[in-house]
Amino acid sequence: TVLVVDFGAQYAQLIARRVREARVYSEIVPSTMPVEEMLAKNPAAIILSGGPSSVYAEGAPSLDRALFDAGVPVFGMCYGFQLMATALGGTVDDNGAREYGRTPLTVSKADSTLFEGTPAEQPVWMSHGDACSAAPEGFTVTASTDVVPVAAFENDEKKLYGVQYHPEVMHSTHGQQVLEHFLYRGAGLKPDWTTGNVIEEQVAAIRAQVGDKRAICGLSGGVDSAVAAALVQKAIGSQLTCVYVDHGLMRKGETEQVEKDFVAATGANLKVVDASERFLKALAGVSDPETKRKIIGREFIRVFEQAQLEILQEDGPEVAFLVQGTLYPDVVESGGGTGTANIKSHHNVGGLPDDIEFELVEPLRKLFKDEVRMVGAELGLPDEIVQRQPFPGPGLGIRIVGEVTKERLDLLREADAIAREELTAAGLDREIWQCPVVLLADVRSVGVQGDGRTYGHPIVLRPVSSEDAMTADWTRMPYETLAKISTRITNEVADVNRVVLDVTSKPPGTIEWE
Ligand code: XMP
Repeated sequence: TVLVVDFGAQYAQLIARRVREARVYSEIVPSTMPVEEMLAKNPAAIILSGGPSSVYAEGAPSLDRALFDAGVPVFGMCYGFQLMATALGGTVDDNGAREYGRTPLTVSKADSTLFEGTPAEQPVWMSHGDACSAAPEGFTVTASTDVVPVAAFENDEKKLYGVQYHPEVMHSTHGQQVLEHFLYRGAGLKPDWTTGNVIEEQVAAIRAQVGDKRAICGLSGGVDSAVAAALVQKAIGSQLTCVYVDHGLMRKGETEQVEKDFVAATGANLKVVDASERFLKALAGVSDPETKRKIIGREFIRVFEQAQLEILQEDGPEVAFLVQGTLYPDVVESGGGTGTANIKSHHNVGGLPDDIEFELVEPLRKLFKDEVRMVGAELGLPDEIVQRQPFPGPGLGIRIVGEVTKERLDLLREADAIAREELTAAGLDREIWQCPVVLLADVRSVGVQGDGRTYGHPIVLRPVSSEDAMTADWTRMPYETLAKISTRITNEVADVNRVVLDVTSKPPGTIEWE
């Protein structure tokens, strides 16, 4: 394992991903973890991430120098580089040499461990105020910039390396190569970590955890729960039951896809609960977005727990486990804990016996989203499931601005299916992060169709590009595709006479309209 010591969250996650892209397994640990504890994990190498502080600022995260004396290869980046420099007796000061953004780096030691085979001049991404003006004793300076004399250094004998810039961001064009040089040449690691290992490892772990008891899993139709379920299914077969709640707010073909493709690929026991009537009834007369969300959330839990209760009453071993598709970023963001949490199945509604507790099975908690997709593909799940774009839990319920009714859902389902079909046909599925199709149910406008006046609803197309859905921009997609979607929707969907394009980034807009 390579440990990535986190001095500033957004950098550490990216570094961990880059290490895994180099096919070496990595894990993030907080910078507050004592060095003995880090070393107790027996890391093959340690990477110190960048971070927002100055090494001299009061309260700035620091590091016990024992880390550098343990014989473990260390790579410091940006803040981590400066920490390494100060801890080992180099000089870091505020000499007014600020660099932010793209900066040309000059490599001064072409055959250095980190830079061999990379250009003598290369663009790198800088973000720092303080700068290193003298490397620690025993270190060779390997690169500089116009304003920073020591932009990279190494001590090959001690296996200590550092760069002032951020090799993990794509703007540092040779960053991945430099990182791989550290891993393979500096630390002597082999690129042998694959998602295939993950499957074997997890299958064994799940078998050990679940034993001969039973587990249940809620399927949402999304990638994460589907892959988690497929993995657990591979491990324990018929001891797993999947529950899929069809709330009637799904898109066209979605429920059938889970029923058919998921079962075909995994052979899992699937319990589909058609609860559309119940959801429609609960949503009747409601147009406030937050109220809708709350109702959908509440009803969902009720239906799911009812299904759980039915499974619990079926003959067979104890149902002791609940499978969840928690991903690594969720784990890191919520503070990182290890170990299994116990949740009470009746935390929301009464009806289940008091003494039932589920232990969680979370086979994806060490993986990033793209790795989950790889695992899914390897497990034989079809592309339609594995490459799915994000779709919100409350489904089309929050894409109808106004009251949710069966007629409106049917109309939106048609429009959405057309948009998706055309986006796929145009090869835009990867470029577009997701494209909500929204019905403005309380808005009408005048149109003319077939020589007659119409008074119909507008449909909004909301194609966005994003990396993590926290921020997004509207996708500049080809006019021809927009034209085709517009023509088809207005021709084929009754009561829609206008298609509009949402050209708002996030912020200020959100991706969904509600
Ligand atoms: P917003 O609209 O907040 O959406 O910009 C960000 C991302 O989250 C998705 N989303 C949800 N996903 N349950 C979910 O599972 C929800 O209630 C929910 N609301 C929004 C949205 O589709 C986008 O990808």
